[in-house]
Amino acid sequence: MFSASHRLHNDRFSDGDNRELYGKCNNPHGHGHNYTVEVTVSGQVDRATGMVCNLVDLDACVHRAVLDRYDHQNLNCLPEFKDKVPTTENLCVHVFEILQREMGSAHLQNTSLSKAKLERIKFDETMMNSFEYSGGAEPRR
Ligand code: NI
Repeated sequence: MFSASHRLHNDRFSDGDNRELYGKCNNPHGHGHNYTVEVTVSGQVDRATGMVCNLVDLDACVHRAVLDRYDHQNLNCLPEFKDKVPTTENLCVHVFEILQREMGSAHLQNTSLSKAKLERIKFDETMMNSFEYSGGAEPRR
């Protein structure tokens, strides 16, 4: 879980169109969410350990690469959202790409994560909204 703020606004649209499109999420002062991130991995169960990967390794990876990056941030101020509206759809895609890159990176090659495949990222934004991404097509700009 992490907490972050954002404002949904696209500079290519007029202020009026932004208000109409995003409603209260276009509030100029932003608003915050307590996001819940669910990470799904798959893989072979290791004969010796009985695990697909060690959840301690996975937690450490998610903590370092995702929670440390986004917790208590204004998402609009982060480079990945410089030209992209920080919707939770877009956040899902970024977090998937970050974790996919992390799990494949050299410093994790000797950990149990090297054998796990990232399948899905799911974000709960509120009790009413959730978003999932499993890789594949980039959303249209
Ligand atoms: Ni919001």
